Amino acid sequence: MLAQNTVPAVLPRHLAIIMDGNGRWAQARGLARSDGHRAGAENVRTIVTECRKLAIPYLTLYAFSTENWKRPQTEISVLFTLLSDFLRKELPLLQAQKIRLQTIGQIEELPFAQRTALSHALHVTKDNTAMTLNLALNYGGRSELVRAVRAIVHEGIEEEAITEECLAQHLYTAGQPDPDCVIRTSGEQRLSNYLLFQSAYSELIFSQAYWPDFDAAQLHMALEEYAGRKRRFGKTQEQVVSCVTD
Ligand code: FPP
Repeated sequence: MLAQNTVPAVLPRHLAIIMDGNGRWAQARGLARSDGHRAGAENVRTIVTECRKLAIPYLTLYAFSTENWKRPQTEISVLFTLLSDFLRKELPLLQAQKIRLQTIGQIEELPFAQRTALSHALHVTKDNTAMTLNLALNYGGRSELVRAVRAIVHEGIEEEAITEECLAQHLYTAGQPDPDCVIRTSGEQRLSNYLLFQSAYSELIFSQAYWPDFDAAQLHMALEEYAGRKRRFGKTQEQVVSCVTD
């Protein structure tokens, strides 16, 4: 039986993905990097749809990092054009599937066209409750933490009131559960400045598949791996077992 015909026993409430390997996918086929990104953008729809089918409540996709500005201007333009195309083409699908779109990152630094398309999509989907799709755009975990600390200082919050919860409430993901699972595609094994605070207890899954090849079957394989992990949150295995049987 195909993996995607069965639903893993335990699913993450919040799944975060580092979509990596578009360039290598294209190179392996003798194509341009832009073709890899185009195939990667197509795959966003596949994975969003599958996560929605599985009723995963929060999905966060790393679409453009603060470090991605170092890429050639032509490649940056391709990525932003794909983002606008995605927002235009997939908005009806997001609506039909009752998916709320959110962004994390310094959106105010994106080009005007993308900011406009984003604010429209955010507005149109704001009352959807079946799933939240966070697009990480111009996102970096370190800069998110700096921004949060600045906001806390600006608000004049008392030293004793600056707790982990307080800091979490000043992140882009305020009000959302931390990711239970972070998947990175393409075989690379690092977080690359992604959700640094929020991923403290996330299970990390590394898939060898390049992002455009990371289809529903690959997603199910990764989720099966997640379901097989023993999450302890610092407790002993005995404590975890007694917690379940209490
Ligand atoms: C990494 O591949 C991927 C990115 C830098 C961006 C991800 C973008 C997309 C999936 C397409 C657009 C997104 C949306 C939401 C429409 P890479 O270029 O670093 O690959 P490489 O490591 O093989 O070079």
